[in-house]
Amino acid sequence: MARRCSRSNGTNVTGLGLAMAASWLLLLAGVSDGQLQVGFYSRTCPGAESTVASVVRQSGSADPTILPALLRLQFHDCFVRGCDGSVLIKGGSGSAEVDNSKHQGLRGLEIIEGAKTQLEAQCPGVVSCADIVALAARDAVAFTGGPSFDVPTGRRDGKVSNIRDADALPDVHDGIDALRSKFRANGLDEKDLVLLTAAHTVGTTACFFLQDRLYNTPLPGGGRGADPTIPPGFLSELKSRCAPGDFNTRLPLDRGSGNVFDTSILRNIRNGFAVIGSDAALYNDTATVDVVDSYSGLLSNFFGPYFRQDFADAMVRMGSIGVVTGGAGEVRKVCSKFN
Ligand code: HEM
Repeated sequence: MARRCSRSNGTNVTGLGLAMAASWLLLLAGVSDGQLQVGFYSRTCPGAESTVASVVRQSGSADPTILPALLRLQFHDCFVRGCDGSVLIKGGSGSAEVDNSKHQGLRGLEIIEGAKTQLEAQCPGVVSCADIVALAARDAVAFTGGPSFDVPTGRRDGKVSNIRDADALPDVHDGIDALRSKFRANGLDEKDLVLLTAAHTVGTTACFFLQDRLYNTPLPGGGRGADPTIPPGFLSELKSRCAPGDFNTRLPLDRGSGNVFDTSILRNIRNGFAVIGSDAALYNDTATVDVVDSYSGLLSNFFGPYFRQDFADAMVRMGSIGVVTGGAGEVRKVCSKFN
């Protein structure tokens, strides 16, 4: 039976200072002072995190490909207007943020909605969709063999969804300067860029995102063809998987290790086996090359830097981008609709 949690329980204020009572009531109401905190729902909806984890676990057992999709979903949420659940809004008229082609292939929105339905039954109006996205991404990382880590919560849902806002998302065609400046615009540095892109250790890409890289890259001597930086053997391999005009076939982003959360993606990037252009771009700049190299060596497992810990920390930083907290925004009843 669904557990019911109250948002406020009529605290007895007798004997308490007015300020203390006010902050206690705010805490019970799930309102913070504008900061995220680990365990934000521990009093207001104690089952919040376990409910999300169980929905993600069940979905991942039925379809393991949904786990990487949930991780990608948080990136797409956070990089557009901040981590405010705006990507979940369905417009109908084609003008919602999610309708932007930059979100091509985005999946897992219905998993977030499924968790939300359960949480509304347990604790109506308490747990935000933005927090469900963050918790689901965290759980997806753990369930693919990545690190387990605490996620601060207390995000509220945004009240704006605009198709043009998603133009700012990083793109497979971006070179290292564009990638760096898009991350910097969100308060993330080169190390975060490499660590977070290493999320491509799991999951797949559609051939759609390789078409230009394989067949339509402007060549130095004029004309168009394959990206000349792709090693010839790997180019043949990619072309055999993604024929010209094939948009739908999917291939692992981390060649040879697509189902396991590990640092093989970074070694692939270092060795010229990046599948998409933006991953390859990480090896085109001294600052990012140094980061890739630092985590690619086998000795880093023993002496650091420690990829799993640093990836988790970078996820928490990404999850803090532009969060809506305190009394701003709302807690949606349904993730795909404003209240
Ligand atoms: C640096 C800029 C990035 C670019 C240009 C980029 C681009 C892409 C593209 C084109 C795909 C394939 C999508 C599809 O065909 O369904 C993809 C998949 C994915 N991305 Fe990224 N990405 C970037 C950063 C990130 C970050 C920061 C994360 C998470 C922290 C992330 C997580 C993922 C995951 C897990 C997948 C696999 C999705 C699946 O299997 O359904 N990406 N990315």
